[in-house]
Amino acid sequence: MGKENKTYYVTTPIYYPSDRLHIGHAYTTVAADSITRYKKMKGFDTMFLTGSDEHGQKIERSAKDSDKEPKKYVDEIVETFKELWSSLGIEYDYFIRTTEERHEKVVQEIFQKLYDKGDIYKGHYEGWYCTPDETFWTERQIGEDKVCPDCGRPVEWVEEESYFFKMSKYADRLLKHIKENPEFIQPESRKNEMISFIEQGLDDLSVSRTTFDWGVQVPFDDDHVIYVWIDALSNYITAIGYETDENNFNKYWPADLHIVGKDILRFHTIIWPIILMALDLPLPKQVFGHGWLLSDSGKMSKSRGNVVDPMELIEDFGVDPIRYYLLREVPFGTDGTYSTEALIQRINSDLANDLGNLLNRTVSMVEQYFDGVIPEPAEYEDVDQDLKNKGLKTVQEIEKYMDDLKYTNALEELWNFVRRTNKYIDQTQPWILGREEGKEERLGTVLYNLLESLRMIAVMLKPFMVETPYEIGRQIGDQIQIKEADWSNLSWGELKTNIEVQKAKPIFPRIDVEEYYDKKEDKNQKEEKEKTMTNENSNNKEDLVNFNTFQKLDLRVAEIKEAERIEDSNKLIKLQVELKDESRQLVAGIAKHYETDELIGKEIVIVANLEPAEIFGVKSNGMILAASNEDELTLITPEKAIASGSKVK
Ligand code: MSP
Repeated sequence: MGKENKTYYVTTPIYYPSDRLHIGHAYTTVAADSITRYKKMKGFDTMFLTGSDEHGQKIERSAKDSDKEPKKYVDEIVETFKELWSSLGIEYDYFIRTTEERHEKVVQEIFQKLYDKGDIYKGHYEGWYCTPDETFWTERQIGEDKVCPDCGRPVEWVEEESYFFKMSKYADRLLKHIKENPEFIQPESRKNEMISFIEQGLDDLSVSRTTFDWGVQVPFDDDHVIYVWIDALSNYITAIGYETDENNFNKYWPADLHIVGKDILRFHTIIWPIILMALDLPLPKQVFGHGWLLSDSGKMSKSRGNVVDPMELIEDFGVDPIRYYLLREVPFGTDGTYSTEALIQRINSDLANDLGNLLNRTVSMVEQYFDGVIPEPAEYEDVDQDLKNKGLKTVQEIEKYMDDLKYTNALEELWNFVRRTNKYIDQTQPWILGREEGKEERLGTVLYNLLESLRMIAVMLKPFMVETPYEIGRQIGDQIQIKEADWSNLSWGELKTNIEVQKAKPIFPRIDVEEYYDKKEDKNQKEEKEKTMTNENSNNKEDLVNFNTFQKLDLRVAEIKEAERIEDSNKLIKLQVELKDESRQLVAGIAKHYETDELIGKEIVIVANLEPAEIFGVKSNGMILAASNEDELTLITPEKAIASGSKVK
């Protein structure tokens, strides 16, 4: 089996369609998109795969909780995935869904092959299972608290007949492969973790379940569905035609790169290679386990109520600032913390100040001194040569870093060049040349060099950003060339002269942090109000709640112990309240109506079982009840003192 030269196959994990996708998922997918765009510019025939992991007990339960058939449930969520990827400028070549017929059929064939080979046998499983992660754990791994070592949630005891996969048989071969191919698991530190995991010995893996139906059936046993990770991992080969399209499969397999988060590296560097060995297929060239994007209260997850919605960020800041931030801020491989303040800081300094100003100043000067027509360059002085050398050196540096997936360093190098070009303006002082007699030729050379630097910057930005390179191109009068440019167009001097620049227009407006938060707060309140009005207006029979629904609300009396205004907000107060033996933190929009001091000691009513949320970066676990109209607001308090924690019904 020979993979053709010059193809590049990259994958993201396929995401569970049970939660909303958050900025952590966007991080993985943007990284995969960026390396694909880069390789394409380098002349590779690229294949970029993403998709959704739609089977398993967790999805079955989520669908049930929403009163939907699993297929209908996943269909709806998958649409939101696709919308997000399109808004983020993600250009995947194929979106695989594990519920598609071709995939399901081939997964059955894979299972059958492994069974026929004697690598899968029937047995009995007794042990611990984490349903949200669809993972089996040993007694030692779950510890005394009996929680999943990955996600911290309680595990369930499972006893059932099961098929097992003989992982142990392949352990030595896998270890050898990992040690002989240093690039197979990256980064290095994660590789060592995996080696010591395998060296502790591999148990055979339970690869079927009997207690639920939402999965691919074991082909020769109706009572069993195939373990969701076997189903999911196989996507990387079913999507490119394993057993269905030999040519395409041979063209792209083995994959060049699986990008995954560190939490699922074990599945990709132990279970997946062993499946491939058992199928006599070559292993992927590299599995890269990146770190997590955390919010200040830990890993983002719906259950912790700390997810950052990428759609909202795109609406507020635009797609390129988000892509830039994700790739620039956190070195790929390590964990990093998302913060809106850091994002705004990047927009203001790197994008608006460094790049935006460079473009704006340059195009304005071409308008002012050459009626907007790009001048011909004349002889170079040292300072020009120096700028040109820096530009060409930057191309090489980016290449070096991109080959190691060091996006952060690549962008840092690119921005060094942006800053170097700004410095060139200060060194050459075109505004003085513009005033002096006989300096037209020199001024023309300086402006040509500035425009050429911008052209190079636009081309080098193409792997990372999806709109900005073309907007730069448009303003420097050369949009089509930027659209068509690939990495080979990064030699100096390709900018066309005697064509017109377009009127200068700032590409990244500066953002005032306070103004941003104020606007955001007003928008949220407006939306809340609109929602309430819609509810009031449609007060017909369908909107009445029955007693059971009402009873689902856990309303409690709580005593306020501490109150503190939230910085940057003129409406929000952070409260610490006590509910019998439990203390809670919540955020309330009451700062315009109450001083913090007067709140301490008050008994109030809260909705205790509201989904936790993060408001202005502060965790809120519950909601206070208050009566309000246009101008007034008053807290709902018990008429007589009563023990905190008492139920309101
Ligand atoms: N369905 C499995 C993957 C199967 S691949 C054959 C799965 N899905 S997931 O939706 O839970 O997670 C998908 C990916 O998102 C994982 O790589 C995970 O590490 C990544 N992330 C989830 N939260 C993340 C952050 N907060 N930060 C960075 N990556 C994050 O696992």
